[in-house]
Amino acid sequence: MTYKEKIDTGRLPAHIAVIMDGNGRWAKRKGNQRIFGHKNGVNAVRETVEAAAETGIRYLTLYAFSTENWKRPQREVDALMSLLVSSLHDETPTLMKNNIRLMTIGHTGGLSDHVGRQLNMTIAKTAGNTGLKLILALNYSGRWEILRAIDLIKADMEAGKPQEALTEDIFAGYLQTRDIPDPELLIRTSGEFRISNFLLWQIAYTELYFTPVLWPDFKKEDFYQAIVDFQQRERRFGKTSEQLHQYEQSQNQ
Ligand code: IPE
Ligand code: IPE
Ligand code: MG
Repeated sequence: MTYKEKIDTGRLPAHIAVIMDGNGRWAKRKGNQRIFGHKNGVNAVRETVEAAAETGIRYLTLYAFSTENWKRPQREVDALMSLLVSSLHDETPTLMKNNIRLMTIGHTGGLSDHVGRQLNMTIAKTAGNTGLKLILALNYSGRWEILRAIDLIKADMEAGKPQEALTEDIFAGYLQTRDIPDPELLIRTSGEFRISNFLLWQIAYTELYFTPVLWPDFKKEDFYQAIVDFQQRERRFGKTSEQLHQYEQSQNQ
């Protein structure tokens, strides 16, 4: 039985987030330069987006470039940016064909005009699509997003907007993910066990899944395996296991 067949389609996560990691090590192992790994990482993006669309996942967030990634050698940053532009350009027809809408989170205003133009083009073109929402995290960091939210709240207060007591829901409404449910599942490839400043607020109760597979090797079945693993977990949200089963029993009566 494949992992795809093992998925319970009635209990899919609405939102899966992915930290795509391991391109550089993949290339090195093959005796190549890191950029070769990024080029091959594009195939894994294609696999993952297709797998998510085929399964009926509603939101897929991919961590493509962190605010910390600017610290890499300029040549690598340039290569990542031009790969982003060429992939968006080449894949826009496929996004249209599959009814996928592209969105972004992160400080996209800090990207070059060249990247910004291509992003705006693909975002505008796919804006009416009603299938999978593909969210690219670009020039993103969780702390940046939280500070930005605080700035927006300050600005609203200074503008005299009626003040309510700040609740989690109101705060979440100032994040870039305001219209997006929190991810139920976060996948990180390449065997690193860290969050690297991704979606810090949103992953408060997310199930974390770590795989040693390096990103360019990540295939649809790896994605499905993560979903199957997720579906075997008990999400207790602070309650006891017994309480959850009591609830199920009362639902079945
Ligand atoms: C992920 O692969 C791609 C980005 C962070 C943009 P890496 O480039 O981080 O690969 P490793 O971790 O060095 O192997
Ligand atoms: C996280 O990967 C960022 C992206 C996947 C875009 P990194 O490879 O940059 O993470 P660290 O620096 O090893 O934590
Ligand atoms: Mg890395």
